[in-house]
Amino acid sequence: MAVTVGIDRISFYTPPFYLPMATLAKARGIDPDKLHIGLGQRDMAVLPPDESVVTMAAHAAEAILDDDNKAQIDTVLFATESGVDQSKAAGIFVHHLLDLPKNCRVLELKQACYSATAAIQMAVALIHQQPDRKILVIASDVARYGLQSAGEPSQGCGSVALLLSANPAILAIEPYSGYYTQDVMDFWRPNYRDEALVEGKYSCQIYLQALAESWDHYCAQSKRQWRDHDIFLYHTPFPRLAEKAHQALCKHVGLTSSSSEETHAGLDLALQYSRTIGNCYTGSLYLSLASLLDHQSADLSGQRVGLYSYGSGCVAEFFSGILQPGYQAHLLTAHHRAILKDRKALSINEYEQFYRFHSQQHDNVDTPHISHGRYRFAGVDDHKPQYQRQKSPSGVKVVSASAPGKLILSGEHAVVHGAPALVIAVERYTKATVSSASDQKLSFHLPDVGHIGSETFHKLHRLKTRLQEAHGKFRRGERGISDIIQKPFELLQYTAANALDKFATPDDQGFHIHTESNLPIGCGMGSSAASIISANYAIAHYLGKTIDDKTQYQLGLRAENLQHGYSSGIDLHVAIHGGCHLFQNGQSTVQNMPADTNFYIVNTGAPDANTGQCVTHSRQCFQQQPDLLEKFVEVTQSIAYALQSANQAQLIASVRLNHRLLVEIGVVPAPIQQFIKQIEEVGGAAKVCGAGSVKGEKAGIVWLIGDDQALQTVAHQHGFSIETLHSDYDGVKLI
Ligand code: COA
Repeated sequence: MAVTVGIDRISFYTPPFYLPMATLAKARGIDPDKLHIGLGQRDMAVLPPDESVVTMAAHAAEAILDDDNKAQIDTVLFATESGVDQSKAAGIFVHHLLDLPKNCRVLELKQACYSATAAIQMAVALIHQQPDRKILVIASDVARYGLQSAGEPSQGCGSVALLLSANPAILAIEPYSGYYTQDVMDFWRPNYRDEALVEGKYSCQIYLQALAESWDHYCAQSKRQWRDHDIFLYHTPFPRLAEKAHQALCKHVGLTSSSSEETHAGLDLALQYSRTIGNCYTGSLYLSLASLLDHQSADLSGQRVGLYSYGSGCVAEFFSGILQPGYQAHLLTAHHRAILKDRKALSINEYEQFYRFHSQQHDNVDTPHISHGRYRFAGVDDHKPQYQRQKSPSGVKVVSASAPGKLILSGEHAVVHGAPALVIAVERYTKATVSSASDQKLSFHLPDVGHIGSETFHKLHRLKTRLQEAHGKFRRGERGISDIIQKPFELLQYTAANALDKFATPDDQGFHIHTESNLPIGCGMGSSAASIISANYAIAHYLGKTIDDKTQYQLGLRAENLQHGYSSGIDLHVAIHGGCHLFQNGQSTVQNMPADTNFYIVNTGAPDANTGQCVTHSRQCFQQQPDLLEKFVEVTQSIAYALQSANQAQLIASVRLNHRLLVEIGVVPAPIQQFIKQIEEVGGAAKVCGAGSVKGEKAGIVWLIGDDQALQTVAHQHGFSIETLHSDYDGVKLI
């Protein structure tokens, strides 16, 4: 009996990050239906800085290997069009990472999205030659077009690993293929470019033309017809094109629409993974196979699958396989679902940062620890890419802490000069996560300030010294407050350097810091303090140290002073303790609040002046008008009393008065004054919460009091949307 050869195991991997199409559509001003319906795409996978086609391939292949089948692998065929080197095969790195046998040949294949099919056909021939061997075929790619290009929504990334053997458990590949080649420039990537160039619509047209050509050749070779097939799978750059391919093939063979619909249901199951992963070039046809098998509950054993493979440029092939009895027992459905379930949706900024990181590849780069998989791309050292196998993902130590933001209800600016301020912690947080790294560096992933990078302890120490010297010059009047921190991410780097000096021992390894926040930056809600406090707390606990409130406050104050000049410490205090406080000269009295208080706010946008500039400006007003401070003291006490006694009339009157005092010290821009005037005209009150602004038209957060409907109407007229905030009572904590 003739030996059958084909796919014995199949698995895919895609990184733990994706961009929802709805997010992309909003950012690019596209109708989301165009992407959801027109392309059939829901999300697309995004490659983080510390992954590449190599790490994705290692992750995908690891899932289908065990000690027994590994020992029988004598060939690795690595199909990709996003290779990592012009000369060396990416598969050699994977061979090393996976500890494959040394008597093994490894080879990289390229012909756009087609080459995995060529690899499979080569593997089938080699196994027929020697049936006891197994061959690992890996299709691994990152689909990359330009930011804001027409191709951008059809990106994605992933790897599919296939183990080929005699007597395969999943799909026996049949003899006879149909193929087609034509010299066309529909999609290509010159050596000097990171992104592919594409004639998008032309490529779809050629794809469909090559389908008809390769199908005709396949039928002529195999003597099979349409009715001999049960299922059709297509190369899937985006799901709608596979649907169109199916319709085009139905038409080509003269089918009526009802008979084509019968096979359409199976196609939809085959497209489920592509809809959320996007294009993974060489792997996409085989991702469809995995998707069909993982989603189809009916037994497909014995059914013939027709597969259409296409690679721009162009080469196409149509071939077939028979699903094997009992294939279900060999699928990795739960593993695949877990990969997709554990992914994080990126914001447009995070996606663009990841994208740009890969555009800036050069020598001597360290990549930050972003994903926590077993395999990682650690950077480039002396022109040599560094790939690492982590001991075990579960062995990675991870500590996360969160700290709340705040609203200063009254007393901002005056608090810097010793008056009390009324402040409340709100349920908006910055979360800092510290996790182990395998080198002596600190790597940072700070999406809110657009920074991905890593530094040695020594370099961080130098940064700390430089910033402290700059602050000294500010205190002596030799330098402006805006000239101390030159890049926003330096605040967190300084915080980490401080924490290292305080808590680390010479034996401590490097680690990775990632922050994420739902606090708007630079709008007066204490985002800097929440970042500093959560990072210090997470670092201390990661290094096995406890950190008391006083140390937290003192470490935080040093960092905040770099940004604010002379920080009152109020933001830090509330980020540490949570709750509501009357804060004065670094001391606080806890305030009781009515339990059901909702705070209505609008975000008028990040001010053009920073807190340091506003505080410097208001300082002059307090110096020129000595009675001003006392007026702030009175109004703060009045607001505190009104809130505690739930006296709405007093609250409105006091907030109006507070607003006038802020206008007097020049921190309320004219358009915001106009907005607040209209709020007052409908019976409400409003005031800037935070530093406000001494220039421009925006003032950060404005607190509103009054009738919901009336506030909504006025906010709407000014293009603002009202948000409701609740209090946080916990302060910084491990999560
Ligand atoms: N609601 C629903 N559908 C909409 C829509 C809306 N509001 N707006 C547009 N569409 C549809 C269009 O009608 C079109 O569908 P159709 O092709 O069935 O007519 C589809 O969305 C795409 O829109 P279109 O404007 O034609 O294309 P585009 O300029 O955005 O480019 C690609 C689309 C696929 C060509 C582009 O993403 C690309 O170049 N991708 C890379 C190349 C590629 O993947 N090639 C595949 C062959 S290998």
